[in-house]
Amino acid sequence: MENTKLVMIPGPTPVARSIQDEMGRETVAFKDADFVKDFKGLVKDLKEMWKTDGECFVVAGTGTMAMEMAIANTTKHGDNVLVVSHGYFGDRFIDMCERKDLNVDVISSEWGKVVSVEEIEKKLSEKEYAVVTITHVDTSTGVKAPVEEIAKMVRKFDNTLLIVDGVCSTASEREYVDDMGIDVLLTGSQKAFGVAPGLAILWAGSRAIERRKSFTTIPESYIDFEKWIPIMNDPMKYWGTPPINLIWALKESVRLIKEEGLENRFERHLRDAKAMQMALESLGFKILAQEGHRAVSLSNVIYPEGIDDAQFRKILAEEGVVVAGGLGAYAGKMFRLGHMGNIDSHHLVCVIAAIERALYKLGVKVELGKGVGVLMSELLG
Ligand SMILES: Cc1ncc(COP(=O)(O)O)c(C=O)c1O
Repeated sequence: MENTKLVMIPGPTPVARSIQDEMGRETVAFKDADFVKDFKGLVKDLKEMWKTDGECFVVAGTGTMAMEMAIANTTKHGDNVLVVSHGYFGDRFIDMCERKDLNVDVISSEWGKVVSVEEIEKKLSEKEYAVVTITHVDTSTGVKAPVEEIAKMVRKFDNTLLIVDGVCSTASEREYVDDMGIDVLLTGSQKAFGVAPGLAILWAGSRAIERRKSFTTIPESYIDFEKWIPIMNDPMKYWGTPPINLIWALKESVRLIKEEGLENRFERHLRDAKAMQMALESLGFKILAQEGHRAVSLSNVIYPEGIDDAQFRKILAEEGVVVAGGLGAYAGKMFRLGHMGNIDSHHLVCVIAAIERALYKLGVKVELGKGVGVLMSELLG
């Protein structure tokens, strides 16, 4: 009998049964009174839980569209933008901004390392930037940026807004928008919210909303904050058809998060990530991200000498666990393992046990149960 497949890539993440059920409901009219009430309640919860008096947008699209929406509403032709990059997704802002005729400066780290707050501050002291972009967790490297410290520092620069890409961090890491001084936080539904792909979610604080209002118009239409604000405040109004079932699914995800408690969820992710990373290290793997700056949502795991990436991931999939390959220079040298969203200790134990079986089948000398033992001691400790 084949093993059940656990999809443990860094997004989409496993979708809980109750969330799947919301996606399977019969679709109603978008002006249906109950749906309108659900949508309104969802936006209110998202604003309250992520602590902003600004606006929250829930729009059909992906994380990349959310990145574009953030840039489009906070910059105008010729503005300076500082992109702080810890990998492939940080770099994604570069082309996006250059296409808009923005003047882009980039500070990037060697993959696995973190850019210092001092380096960013130095750059901001040299010229005026309309926007700084930072990827909270870059999925290509598993590096977590010190967003709270960066946000505090950026606030010294009156005309500079901070955009935080939370696609691989939101709902697993603390990102309280107004309290922390984030101007725009953006994410997608498919990662730590544990919903299927298809929703872009953005929070915009008052400074970002003011910035958009300072432009008469922007070239983009679908992703214009001004088009969506009336809908987010009253979903009876229309701009683009809301993805009704995904909105219900996100509402169920938020209900689960409230039940768990957002702070408890952050602590769970931290505990699980530490345990997973220690278990992987006990089996001879290395974690790419430098200590102290490791993501809790995923691990970027470098193979020990002599393991073939394609063969390992094929056997691991046969053992029931699907992981993603490395990107850029780490393709073939690393795999990426998601451990975020609505997963529990069954998932974690199964993953480490399947990795041990895959190593064993590849002929690697492995003490069976070692990784599982480390994992469980850490989870219980
Ligand atoms: C950190 C980060 N930013 C942006 C994106 C792009 O999101 P999407 O694939 O939903 O467009 C991803 C996707 O994995 C990501 O991990």
